[in-house]
Amino acid sequence: MEKVKREGFSSSLVVFFATLSSAVGLGNIWKFPYIVGQNGGATFILIYLLCVLGVGLPVMLSEFILGRSSKKNVMGAISDVTPRKFFKSVGIFGIIVAFAISCFYTAVAGWVYSYIGKAILGKFRGVDTVQAKEIFDTTTVGPLQPVLWQVVVLIVSSIILIKGVRSGIERVARIGMPILLGLLIACAVRGLFLEGGKDAIGYLFIPSFKDISLVSVVMTALGLAFFKLSLGMGTMMTYASYFPDDNNLLGNAVKVIIGDTIVSLLAGMAIFPSVFTFGGEPGSGPGLLFETIPLIFSKLPGGNVLIIIFFILAGLAATMATISMLEVPIAYLSEERKISRKGAVICTSIVVAVVGLLATLSANPQGLLGQKFIFKMTFFNFFDYISSNILMPIGGLLLAILVGYFMKKERIRHELVEKSGNSVGMMNLYYFILRYITPVLLIIVFLSALNII
Ligand code: TRP
Repeated sequence: MEKVKREGFSSSLVVFFATLSSAVGLGNIWKFPYIVGQNGGATFILIYLLCVLGVGLPVMLSEFILGRSSKKNVMGAISDVTPRKFFKSVGIFGIIVAFAISCFYTAVAGWVYSYIGKAILGKFRGVDTVQAKEIFDTTTVGPLQPVLWQVVVLIVSSIILIKGVRSGIERVARIGMPILLGLLIACAVRGLFLEGGKDAIGYLFIPSFKDISLVSVVMTALGLAFFKLSLGMGTMMTYASYFPDDNNLLGNAVKVIIGDTIVSLLAGMAIFPSVFTFGGEPGSGPGLLFETIPLIFSKLPGGNVLIIIFFILAGLAATMATISMLEVPIAYLSEERKISRKGAVICTSIVVAVVGLLATLSANPQGLLGQKFIFKMTFFNFFDYISSNILMPIGGLLLAILVGYFMKKERIRHELVEKSGNSVGMMNLYYFILRYITPVLLIIVFLSALNII
């Protein structure tokens, strides 16, 4: 069997953009604002940041170490550390989670795509709150519209994925990320000049510790951290397998986390001022982005152009993140199962399109499957909840144990100290947190979620 030659990213700047392009996505632009809104603003953000430091950063670094030291897909990387069957299941688990997330993620990405079309056709001109809600409902209720757009998302992502790591993923990330950041800053600055700008800043940055239920808030914050940083199911591991050997892993993880947080806050600053100016409801849920952005812009001079730009930006971010999710099963299928890359991309997309119907048709309560429930949730919420709040944190726990207790410390040292140029002290600090703090935090959260402690 001829050995498949592996592609890789060409430079450290590209590594940064590529990892950031996976992290930044609907998690920042769509999920973060509405979850912050539902959980009361700045206090939640603070708890979120603690989860990122105590759990997100160590797990991300562990995924980087696993990926780069093995230069293999999830399954290959894990069996490089230990032959134990149990950990093999972590790989399979990651691949299943990748599918579960893609199913609802591509549905939301489809709504974003359709909003680009609607903005170009001028459908948001002069809309008020009621009309904005109506447009959101017609976009999501289906069956035809949301399904078609979801398929378009999958086709666009597949085309980029078929091109491969360098001319697909790398090129899109290198061009797309800087554009996205520039546009988002413009939108946030615009939002802050609205009347409700000051309220929005207070809401986002000044914590108030009243009536929060700590366990559920911590669970939500932790799930959001995993989701936003693409952790716990092998995306970062797979991308790290394409990193060059001289990349500073710790430095990159810190930069990506800071970049991702800044983008989320910028998205908050773009959205909440309009919520406060036009009397929206911060806790209104998944429709928040789609109902407020048209409102902000419809009332502004030149708003119609800005709104096109905003949704193009969101579409770009969503597409790059979708690519990173799909890359997990694709790398596995093409390397371990020896299917051609093109075949792997097509199979993966077809499965997501078909299973994704469950999510797409249940996102709106009036949709075809909007009243079908599984564990008291719609399929859409089920895919979202089980992947972010349960499966990814479990994946994170297992990865922390794998690297903290089963990987030879020599290998970690080689990746961090010799190759990345990090100090021995830093490595020891990371190793300590990974072994004793991250797993304990995760286990406490699980046990309290199950009402055991
Ligand atoms: N992080 C992305 C976002 O914020 C979503 C994402 C991409 C993801 N790849 C992932 C989430 C892997 C979980 C796992 O939108």
